[in-house]
Amino acid sequence: MSDLLLLGIETTCDETAAAIVRRRGDGSGTILSNVVRSQTEAHAEYGGVVPEIASRAHVEILDHLIALALRSAGITLAQVDGIAAAAGPGLIGGVIVGLTTAKALALAANKPLIAVNHLEAHALTARLTDKVPFPFLLLLVSGGHTQLVAVTGIGEYTKLGGTIDDAIGEAFDKTAKMLGLPYPGGPEVERAALKGDASRFALPRPLHGKPVPDFSLSGLKTAVRQEALKIAPLSDEDVNDLCASFQAAIVDILADRTRCALRLMLQKGLKPNALVLAGGVGANQAVRRVLHKVAADAGTRLAVPPPELCTDNGAMIAWAGAERLARGLTDDLGTAPRARWPL
Ligand code: KG4
Ligand code: ZN
Repeated sequence: MSDLLLLGIETTCDETAAAIVRRRGDGSGTILSNVVRSQTEAHAEYGGVVPEIASRAHVEILDHLIALALRSAGITLAQVDGIAAAAGPGLIGGVIVGLTTAKALALAANKPLIAVNHLEAHALTARLTDKVPFPFLLLLVSGGHTQLVAVTGIGEYTKLGGTIDDAIGEAFDKTAKMLGLPYPGGPEVERAALKGDASRFALPRPLHGKPVPDFSLSGLKTAVRQEALKIAPLSDEDVNDLCASFQAAIVDILADRTRCALRLMLQKGLKPNALVLAGGVGANQAVRRVLHKVAADAGTRLAVPPPELCTDNGAMIAWAGAERLARGLTDDLGTAPRARWPL
């Protein structure tokens, strides 16, 4: 099969992104350009993403980013083989902006449209960066999603477990907010945790040892709040120790739940070629360290895209579009944006 050049557009949350990716006939891929504009500053004063502000910011900058992605890759729109956009799940205003733009370009340039599931894009990124063959176990941990998924092919996803309340990234963000740290909280908590004593607070590990690899984070969050209230006002040292204790609990939870999912996969007769870590929380070094060990103990390896491809970006959408287009999977211009879209 010949090479495919894809434009990818991502607008499901608070990053506006566009990228050009080449997929070769042998299934390998190269990123030709990958431009991301984070809206973090616009949302920071509200302590979280404000959907209306997000969709307006996408509208303002997306055209410019697409032009920049094309220019940086040294190509024109006429040279791409397909236009991929995240069609969900996500904040619906943002999804509409990205998908409608992709439809307009596809119509004007007479190119196929590929409506990509944002979660599928996270799932497939490790095939671009690490050439991971199917099957593999995906641990997707972001601000909006926490899932363990057996991936056996394009479009073949079996969810083994997920969160019954908060997502892990959300737990990081809420904990940070509670402790007076800025948004987004994940990197702030990680930084504070490095200076803290993880053994000072005994925090719960909900669902530990349960036979289904589900997650529950709200009890942990509440426990952090209760400990904080007991010792308020908090010194810097208190905040560091709370962050370290919280992160240690998250690390234990992720290790236990992932071990459970790996066992389930083996029971289904699927030997995973890798444990793939995706989503923004995958940028956390303590999380990476423990999952490396979990994978090795199970006789497999950890595959983690570099941090800039773990968080939301256009290259993952372009790549998922290329994987689909290579199999003849395209979408018509009537495809609807979806706020909810399980894998
Ligand atoms: O995948 P992503 O960029 O966007 C979503 O689709 O949600 O993930 C963002 C989430 C945020 O909750 C952020 O706090 C978290 O990932 N995150 C981290 C770290 N970097 C980002 N969590 C823990 N440690 C980090 N270093
Ligand atoms: Zn994401």
